[in-house]
This record gives sequence, structure tokens and C-alpha cells, in this order.
Amino acid sequence: MLTLGINAAFHDCAAVLVADGRVIAAAEEERFTHVKHGKRPLPFTAWQLPFHAIDFCLAQGGVTLADIDHVAYSFDPWEFDGFDRLLQAAPGDKAGDRRALPDSIALPLEPWRHPAPAGGSPWDPLFLAYIVNAPGQLRDGAPHHLKARFRLPPGEPRWQWHWVEHHLAHEASAFLAAPFDDCAVLTLDGRGEHVTTSAGHFSDGHFRRLAEVSHPHSLGMLYERITDFLGFLHSSDEYKVMALASYGTPRFRDQFDGMVSLDDHGGYTMKLPDRAGLEALFGPARERGGALDQRHFDIAASLQKTLEDAVLALAGWLHRQTGARNLALAGGVALNCVMNARLRDDGPFEHVWVQPAAGDAGTALGAALWADHCARGRPATHWRMEHALLGPEWSDDDIEAFLRWSHLSFRRCTDLAADTADLLVAGKVIGWFQGRMEFGPRALGARSILASPIPADMQQRLNDIKDREDFRPVAPVVLEDRCAEWFTAEQGGDDPAPFMLFVFKVRPELAARIPAVVHADGTARVQTVRADQNPRYHALLRAFEQRTGVPILVNTSFNTRGEPMVCSPRDALESFWTSPLDALVIGNFIVEKHGGGAS
Ligand SMILES: [Fe+2]
Repeated sequence: MLTLGINAAFHDCAAVLVADGRVIAAAEEERFTHVKHGKRPLPFTAWQLPFHAIDFCLAQGGVTLADIDHVAYSFDPWEFDGFDRLLQAAPGDKAGDRRALPDSIALPLEPWRHPAPAGGSPWDPLFLAYIVNAPGQLRDGAPHHLKARFRLPPGEPRWQWHWVEHHLAHEASAFLAAPFDDCAVLTLDGRGEHVTTSAGHFSDGHFRRLAEVSHPHSLGMLYERITDFLGFLHSSDEYKVMALASYGTPRFRDQFDGMVSLDDHGGYTMKLPDRAGLEALFGPARERGGALDQRHFDIAASLQKTLEDAVLALAGWLHRQTGARNLALAGGVALNCVMNARLRDDGPFEHVWVQPAAGDAGTALGAALWADHCARGRPATHWRMEHALLGPEWSDDDIEAFLRWSHLSFRRCTDLAADTADLLVAGKVIGWFQGRMEFGPRALGARSILASPIPADMQQRLNDIKDREDFRPVAPVVLEDRCAEWFTAEQGGDDPAPFMLFVFKVRPELAARIPAVVHADGTARVQTVRADQNPRYHALLRAFEQRTGVPILVNTSFNTRGEPMVCSPRDALESFWTSPLDALVIGNFIVEKHGGGAS
């Protein structure tokens, strides 16, 4: 049984293929189109399906669209809070049948000229029209160059279509991928159809939602609003605000606390100020690209603390309700690795696991896993996401053919780990392109830029290479069995961190040996790796340790500013030659810029 998961309603559009409970392929559309996040989360982009990601999933499975049994779309238009209003106004409203579509709805020709209805947007009709037509778009809308795998026989497609509520998709992406059979589940994002935060319990193959918070009350939206206020791109740059927070003190805490009111039922209400309201509280907003000063750091620190304390309180309530030992997290807010570390260190759960594609891309995973899980009768056991290497790969033969075709000088490795470690020990910064691409926003050793953490100037060099802000830290990857020697956590520090979604304290006595990866507050966003998760990456770390005594490398995503991570050999070569990277290790081949060998 084949299930195709699609996320397309907002942004981070992505596709996932599940075969009988096992994930075969997963990828974000941005990696193929080079448009970061695939598209902006705007109502007039809702029609765009991730055709390139779908095409990859079908190719990886060796199937075509005609072979798909279930399609799971991670948004349920009937749950959208504007839909009831539209249905009431629609001619032919089929009262009593909640799932019946009206023949038509009123669609303003120029929505932007219309005033917003109470609690809604003048764009809601267009947005909904796009969503409900996704099946037709999938059937007929594939671009010409992808048509081959999208051809269907005449008549209705054989697939069964599932509209999966957005937060159920986030939840399922956590509990059906986590290493737990029983867990509490928490999701937080900007918003879905109307839900913004949810809490539930997964046990014996069944999931029960225990609490939810609806729009306009949203911790995720608060973070987005402040991201925008601080001059960054909301729904994209929230991680930069998290990085800024460590330079500040939470002196605006009272102002933020005044916005969030926790209740006794696992929820909260929020008074979210508009731009003028925020300026009254915090002073002028920062213009994009403007200077950053202490006030900005303090705003970020206050926001971060408010978020952490609120989520800790929600987690405490959820723990009391469920008695569960484990917590699984998803939703865009769960990419906040400082918050995740607070949950691990100060929260009531023994183990905290975060699904690596926690943002909206992961809803394609959750929708597919949920539809598959239900169709198979909710079995008690489920697939476990041991790694995120679920994207496309290229064989050495393909890579060599491409390098020769490009008339590039390259050399074949005699020993991939040893040859690469030698480059890193010599202070080279390398592009590392190996195996299947990561699913989710973090580079995890498949499409990474790697460097030695030992030189003091390495963070600066990497920020120069990636043309990004100086305040941005770079992160370490460490052999899992060496992690505790270098990094500590107050609780749960023995749990692996394969997805780089938790910060750890760097042991103070060792911090001077790895200055490049130690953030201003003495922490590091750690990735742990085992041989079974990524053998080449693991072997490289071992080889580097043998040469230096340090089982750690700097790992950052293989891209340049504003670009998604590289996907194909062509992307890797283009990024390599248009940035100051020293070498590219691609499959079993090395390309260097400065007389590094010839074919
Ligand atoms: Fe979401």
C-alpha cells in the first residue's frame, strides 16, 4: 500500500512516500526549485503543489502516480475557521452534510480591495478554492518536464484522498516517527486551519488530543511577529532571533508576560500587539539590515524566556494528564533548540524527542504516516526515524560522469575518511556531498559544509564563506560515544541528538580546544552521530579524532546566503565554485581550487 503525503497549503512544501508503514522517500520542494521554503505562506500561493518533490518520491519508489493508493494532504479545508462563514453564504449550501461542498462560493475578483471580515481575511475564498482543488491540480497540473511519472489512466484516479488536519499531521509526524510506543505529544506553530498549539497522548496505536489553542492565540505567531519587528523575515528567520537571545538579558520580561495568560487546561490566551503596540512597549522596530544593538538582544532574550516558560508550563500540564515518560515534539516552534533543551533539562519528561522536519515540511510526513496508520488498522508498532537521510542520492558513477562532462579536475579518494580528514586538519573548509539528502532544515552530514573546530577564527571564516551575520553560531557534530566527554546537559544528556535540535553546555575545561563551535553563552547546538546512522560521516569523525584527539567537526548547511541547501551534484559544484570553499568532497571524489590534483 503506497501513501503519498503532501504539504502545500502554506510554505515548506514537501512530499513523502510511505509504503506499508515505512518511509521510502521525503524531500522539500525548495531543494529542486531553489526557492527557499518553496514559496511564501500567502493565500495566493496555496495552489502550488510540490511537483518536483513528488516526482522524486515516485522515482525513489520506482512507481508512478497511477500506483498511489492514498494521498494525504496536510490541511483540512473543513477545519479552516473561515470555511463555515463561506458555506453559510454559499448558494446551494447542503445543510446537515458537513463534508458536502457547495456548488460555488462568493470569490471577490480583487480580494485586496475588500475589507477583512471579522476574524478572517478577504483572501479566504481564494485560499480555500485553491486548497479544495488540490486533487485536480495533482491530477492535471504537473509541469511538462515531469509529466512522465504523473500520467494517469482515463477516469477517476484510484487513490483515496485524505484531508488531514494540519496539527494532526504535525502530531503524527512526531508520534509515528518517535522512538516511543507511548508518549505525550506537543505541537506548536504559527497556525494551521485554526489550531496553533496542541497537546495529546499516543498509546497502544491510538492518539487522543487533550488540549488545543486556536488562532489568534499563538506562541508561534508571537515569535513570528517579533522576528519581523527585529527586521528579519518572519516564518523563516526565527532561528536568528533565537541566536540573538543569548546576547541579551530578559529585561522586557514583564511586557511579554503581559501578552500571554496560561490557563489550567493545557492552553493559553494571548494579546498580540500590532506594530504600533510593540513600538510602544519596546521602542522603534529595527529596519531590515539595520544595526543590531543591546535593546534588540534584550527583546529577543525576553521573548525566548517567555516562550520557554510557557512551553514548560504546557509540558507540565501534559505530563500530569498523561503520566507519560516520553515527549514527542513537532511544529515550527519545535525547531527552537534552546527551548527544547529547557524542556529536556527542566521539564518533567525523561526523554524528549523532536521530529527533525518539525516545520511544515514535516506535515507531509505526518499526513502520510497517519493515513497509512489508519488504513492498516492502527498497528501497535510503527516505523522509527533513526535518521533523516530520506532524499535523493547520486552514485559514484553518476558523479564521476558529471565531473568529466564538466571538464573539472578531480581526484578519486584512496580512503575517503582519511583523505578528507587530512584536508580538515590542514584547515581547509570543505563541501561534503554524500549519500541521500537530509529531510528537514538542518544539514546532518549529507549536504554539509565541514571544518575543523580547533582554529579560533573558524566561525568567522565560515560566516564569511556563507555570507551571513557574525552573531550566528556554527554547530558541532560529535561521535555519539564521545558526546558526554565534551558536552553536558542537566538532564537527558545521555539521549542522542542526531538531528541537531538541542543545545548542550560545552564542558568549560574543553571549550578552548573547540572555540569555533562554542556560542557566546558557552553552549553548542550538538549533532551526535553513530556508524549505523551515517557510516561515512562517522568514519570521517573517527579519522579526524585519530589525527587531532578531537572527535568533533564544525557542521553547517551546504548553501550560501538566501539559497536552500544543495541537492544535486550540479548544485554542489555551483555553490562550491561561487563561494570561498577550499575543497569539495563529493561521493568518492575530491575537487580542489588550488592545484589539488587532476583527473
Ligand atoms: Fe504548521
